[in-house]
Amino acid sequence: MSRPVAVVTGSSSGIGAACALRFARGGFDVALNCSRDPKPAEYVAEQCRAAGAQTEIVVADISQDADCKRFAARVLERWGSARALVNNAGRTKFVGLRDFDGLSAQDFQDIYAVNTIGAFQMARAFAPLLVKEQGASIVNVSSIAAVMGLGSSIAYMCSKGALNTLTIALARALGPQIRVNGVGPGMIEGEWLKQGYGAERYEAMGAAWRNQAALSSTIPPEDVAETVFFLATGAPKTTGETLLVDAGFKIGKG
Ligand SMILES: NC(=O)c1ccc[n+]([C@@H]2O[C@H](COP(=O)([O-])OP(=O)(O)OC[C@H]3O[C@@H](n4cnc5c(N)ncnc54)[C@H](OP(=O)(O)O)[C@@H]3O)[C@@H](O)[C@H]2O)c1
Repeated sequence: MSRPVAVVTGSSSGIGAACALRFARGGFDVALNCSRDPKPAEYVAEQCRAAGAQTEIVVADISQDADCKRFAARVLERWGSARALVNNAGRTKFVGLRDFDGLSAQDFQDIYAVNTIGAFQMARAFAPLLVKEQGASIVNVSSIAAVMGLGSSIAYMCSKGALNTLTIALARALGPQIRVNGVGPGMIEGEWLKQGYGAERYEAMGAAWRNQAALSSTIPPEDVAETVFFLATGAPKTTGETLLVDAGFKIGKG
């Protein structure tokens, strides 16, 4: 019997790579994506194949509508349909909360182009493939930044807030055939924050995070992938929701 297909944007590292592998282990074939060097994605694809999946890597910049359409055409040609779309690719600029002059209008536009508009363009390109499948769904990878006003920059927080609204709007627009949900990860263990803040500050932030979070933990990408997989495959009556995966940082310790 043929396996359903999961499409995961930004799957050459971090949360996207963990999602690709989780779907492969969960019985899906996987279409992987990144916008630059496909080498890291090839390593992830190899792991997916070892888990029994067929894979395809599509190098595409999801901020470009033509790339999203080409990506969908490739998946249509190879598999004919898709069961899950994970809009994970994201970008930011690291600018302190009070450094207003550190952010230009162009910075906002560049960040929105991937985090918000890119997710919309991918949903639009893939909706015709998703609608062919029973139980199809989209999961948008947002951030705790959207609901707490913390994170790498104000432009990033706003782009993820807009993504949460997109999740609600798409859930209404694409129902009843396609469910649309989101996850809002907290502090993820990995290169995004380590490179953005530097190793020393990253360690200090991790300690502060564990001190505040109810579960006393930062979050490995695999734990976000688990929630993404659950929303995509195991939550048949949930749509339009964005679920925090923050180890209880928002609620804090008792
Ligand atoms: N790290 C955190 O603490 C954290 C917390 C909350 C939410 N998030 C969100 O989680 C998602 C993944 O983050 P991560 O930490 O896993 O990041 P990561 O390890 O840096 O991975 C980012 C991925 O996105 C791809 N990408 C970036 N721009 C793209 C574009 N325009 N088109 C296609 N692919 C693109 C990258 O590949 P290329 O470099 O080849 O483009 C890479 O595969 C993002 O949406 C981020 O906002 C992260």
